Amino acid sequence: MKADPTLIPGLIEEAIRWTTPVKHFMRTATEDTELRGRGIAKGDWLMLCYASGNRDEAVFEEPYQFRVDRTPNRHVSFGYGAHLCLGQHLARLELRILFEELLPRLKSLSLDGEVKLTQATFVNGPKRLPIRFDLV
Ligand code: HEM
Repeated sequence: MKADPTLIPGLIEEAIRWTTPVKHFMRTATEDTELRGRGIAKGDWLMLCYASGNRDEAVFEEPYQFRVDRTPNRHVSFGYGAHLCLGQHLARLELRILFEELLPRLKSLSLDGEVKLTQATFVNGPKRLPIRFDLV
């Protein structure tokens, strides 16, 4: 990343796919339909499981590989359709600025202990992420 900052947008997109911070939302079917052989009736409640969608082998080549060069990266971490995340561009901008400003200042960065994730069911992220770093 330090050697080639043009990789940063790909890193951000893949990190958002990989972590899928928002785990699920709910929808109500507005008409009878069928999806991959499963019947869905009007009025049914559906759980949109974004983490599962983001590892769909039919969409992503090697979904369990973290690839900064994944193109296209059609993840659903920001949802889909009419309620697609309103803040997605701000989220990407914040992450891009973070990496653009941080990377030139870092000489090294490594894990320094056990990583723990939050146990939440809706929005997940790191609870504990000990790191060691040296500044340039
Ligand atoms: C990485 C960061 C973020 C992720 C992963 C994320 C994810 C999501 C998801 C999955 C949805 C639901 C989409 C759907 O129902 O189809 C959503 C909706 C929404 N997000 Fe985000 N979001 C992020 C950052 C933000 C930020 C920074 C803002 C505001 C500044 C924001 C504002 C909203 C709003 C207002 C909605 C509701 C849109 C609607 O119902 O029409 N989000 N987001």
